[in-house]
Amino acid sequence: MKVLDIYSQYPITLVKGQGHTVTDSSGTEYMDFYGGHGVISIGHSHPDYKAALTKQLGELVFYSNAFINPLQYELAEKLGKISGYDKANLFMANSGAEANENAVKAASFINGRKKVLAISGAFHGRTAGAVAMTNNPKIQPPFGSNIEVDFIAFSDKQALKKHLETKEYTAFIVEGIQGVNGIWEGDTDFWKLARELCTTTETLLIADEIQSGYGRSGLFFAHQYHGIVADIVTMAKGMGNGFPVGGLIISDNLKLEKGMLGTTFGGAQLACTAAISVIDVMQHENLIKNTATIGNYLIEKIKQIDEVTEVRGRGLMLGIEFSISGKAVRTALINNYKIITGFSAPEVLRLLPPLNITKTEADAFIDALKKAVNEVKANS
Ligand SMILES: Cc1ncc(COP(=O)(O)O)c(C=O)c1O
Repeated sequence: MKVLDIYSQYPITLVKGQGHTVTDSSGTEYMDFYGGHGVISIGHSHPDYKAALTKQLGELVFYSNAFINPLQYELAEKLGKISGYDKANLFMANSGAEANENAVKAASFINGRKKVLAISGAFHGRTAGAVAMTNNPKIQPPFGSNIEVDFIAFSDKQALKKHLETKEYTAFIVEGIQGVNGIWEGDTDFWKLARELCTTTETLLIADEIQSGYGRSGLFFAHQYHGIVADIVTMAKGMGNGFPVGGLIISDNLKLEKGMLGTTFGGAQLACTAAISVIDVMQHENLIKNTATIGNYLIEKIKQIDEVTEVRGRGLMLGIEFSISGKAVRTALINNYKIITGFSAPEVLRLLPPLNITKTEADAFIDALKKAVNEVKANS
């Protein structure tokens, strides 16, 4: 059997990860400023995480939700405290798309509606519902095309009002910070109006924090910068530091009946252990504060580079635009400086490093970025 040839890939085989470093099959080390699409939150192979997972491997890897799992209660308790959503309920899934799919299903069960309002350029995942809320026709098959989703521009308050006041929408879904589309976010007035209108029209406000959550923005969730509380928050990526785990925080006011949501693998023992370990490490190492501090330091330094036209984002979720090709800068960083970064279409360099990088790594990155920019400029 062959592997389906469906991903565009760098011709590099990664075999090892330690902290912020990944190593390829020839022994070359790379500084990881991308965390495999923002998944690595506490660093590759963190010793506490490794110890917790190894211990749990020897105890119980999996049993289904047909039996009580104390680790889910421990996770809910810790997640409630660290996120501020301590009065809400946790439902666990396996990925970001599955979390969003369940969020909209929950909303629809609650208010009986079926249309969704989303933001232009959003990315919510690849399952039928999630991809319908992702307005990129290139990744939308005819299957699922009957799912009704309308899109409005970020911060278009008039459109938000016009749509929500019809009371036709089950949910309004918004990324805390848009990642795939190039690091954009709604302004505080927009978020506040969304909160107000969702309440008055009984539309559920879903904050997709799959990329921007779990400390990455310098607060536990990026929407918390706007002083609002969502009805449902979706999480994945950094939640498990590489172990596939996703989840939904569902407001305690929202009542779901037994059996409305479900999954075989979601919330099993090993997945909970990974998610608990990530929170424990974040607390022991004060990683949210570190993320905010190092993020601000990076923003300040990046802005000083002449060819940088804009830096967007918060904490360690940053997008950089240049007066030269961002894609070429990314290629120079990996080929010549052994630094892995990501990009968002069309030309935005995207940084999603582990949350425990220090000023030393930030300085090494800035130094390499300046050199890479100069090379690209000289060759263009
Ligand atoms: C904001 C957001 N939502 C949802 C998803 C989908 O997550 P997954 O790939 O785990 O299904 C992603 C993935 O990039 C994302 O960035």
